[in-house]
Amino acid sequence: MPWTTLVVGSLSLLAVLSIAYSTVRTSVPPMPSSMRSRRVVLDLLAEYVPDQPNVRLADLGSGWGGLAIPMARRFPQYRIEGYELSWLPWLVSRLMKAAFRLDNLTLHRRNFNRADLDHVGILVTYLNPNVMAQLKQRLDRPEQPRRTLISIGFALPGKTAERTLRVNELYNTPIDIYRLGRTTNDR
Ligand SMILES: C[S@@+](CC[C@H](N)C(=O)[O-])C[C@H]1O[C@@H](n2cnc3c(N)ncnc32)[C@H](O)[C@@H]1O
Repeated sequence: MPWTTLVVGSLSLLAVLSIAYSTVRTSVPPMPSSMRSRRVVLDLLAEYVPDQPNVRLADLGSGWGGLAIPMARRFPQYRIEGYELSWLPWLVSRLMKAAFRLDNLTLHRRNFNRADLDHVGILVTYLNPNVMAQLKQRLDRPEQPRRTLISIGFALPGKTAERTLRVNELYNTPIDIYRLGRTTNDR
């Protein structure tokens, strides 16, 4: 077997194992959101971002950068953050950030459950029901800052969305908008 095949094969195997390991660890695969969902989220962000200086937006579980990169391109005036645990998707998103020269985008390779998110005004997620339940427990508390959460595909259990849109695609994916924290009405 030529050594190049061996190297490429080993690297591919490592990549697959690494993604499998992260998926087991987080319980969320690094599957990118659909193009249509992204378009809806970007339009919603344009509507919901408060008219204030220094607003920060974050994609919790930024994967390959499929949403964080378009967010940073569409809103160069805002600081965008991505949090991702899986190193290969994170690395690819870092390369894309460099390729597009997105100085307003910070991509953290870390667990968003352990990150201080108090400074983030708008959160975007595409996760799973269990992780959404954990996020609700953490972020929808009176002592938490007021902020907006836009969730692709998965609702926050026990919380009424302020608005839900359906993406015009095969599964009619729901996109829910929530107001979290101190000023929520349903507490
Ligand atoms: C379905 S992907 C979504 C990717 C991207 N947001 C998009 O819309 O294309 C979810 C990502 O969340 C990451 N993730 C899940 N839990 C996490 C955690 N606690 N901290 C950081 N990343 C996490 C997973 O590794 C996965 O890559």
